[in-house]
Amino acid sequence: MTYEYLIVEKPVEGVALVRLNRPKQYNALNLGVLKELAQAFKSLDEDDSVRAIVLTGNDKAFAAGADIKEMMNKTPVQMKTEPFVDGWDAVALAKKPVIAAVSGYALGGGAELAWACDMIIASETAVFGQPEINLGIIPGAGGTQRLTRTIGKYLTMEMVLNDRRLTAEEAARFGLVNHVYPVDTYLEEAIKLAAKIASRAPMAVRFGKEAVLYALESTLQAGLQHERLLFYALFSTEDQKEGMAAFVEKRQPQWKGR
Ligand code: CAA
Repeated sequence: MTYEYLIVEKPVEGVALVRLNRPKQYNALNLGVLKELAQAFKSLDEDDSVRAIVLTGNDKAFAAGADIKEMMNKTPVQMKTEPFVDGWDAVALAKKPVIAAVSGYALGGGAELAWACDMIIASETAVFGQPEINLGIIPGAGGTQRLTRTIGKYLTMEMVLNDRRLTAEEAARFGLVNHVYPVDTYLEEAIKLAAKIASRAPMAVRFGKEAVLYALESTLQAGLQHERLLFYALFSTEDQKEGMAAFVEKRQPQWKGR
């Protein structure tokens, strides 16, 4: 499939790379980008050759947020009925692991796109922020909820109410970013991490992702119960038998994805 605002590639086996491609607007997320993101993530989720996805922008900007010029005269009904949130939802609901590779600006809806991913690799130049307050609005694509669940109430309040921005190093210290690399290597490192995860037992990766995300939605008891059911279910897979046999026989496992 070809896209107007995205470049989708398969740089190494098992990995899809989705690049936001509106460089003159710092990858501002207009409806075209958001619709294409939803299409691309749906099609990659259905593609058996893809086992992990890297979402990136360019070195200067991951994304500078929702497109302010496109949004400025919208009515509430248009904001609700147009496929505005579809892009973020498609990333957040992907069944495969999604790694954000962030460099430069990740602001507003751009930061929220990173928060919707499962892991975040940042370049040393990355800047994360929720500057919506400057426009007389609040984050509308998950920022207040996902940030609070990750870094807690107090810092989130400062970010949402007073446009406090985080450097890559701060974001890593607060647990929002997995690793920080120089701008020359962050994307390569994100692809390497995705390739490593793509080489692992696919059903276990899928269930592991589901179990971790469930922790954000449930009570501890419900989460523990859910984890246990997924853990037991993996004993019905050939890969569980193979993984344990390979350990006992001191060899590398050959995963089948079933
Ligand atoms: N929407 C639309 N256009 C944008 C944009 C955005 N979010 N961010 C940047 N652009 C455009 C600019 O309008 C400009 O276009 P023109 O050349 O046609 O004028 C071009 O990108 C370059 O931008 P600047 O001239 O401003 O470049 P800069 O280097 O001086 O600043 C920046 C870069 C700090 C990213 C600045 O552009 C900026 O602050 N952007 C807005 C960030 C923002 O407020 N994001 C939140 C949006 S609301 C939201 O996302 C809601 C939500 O929760 C879903």
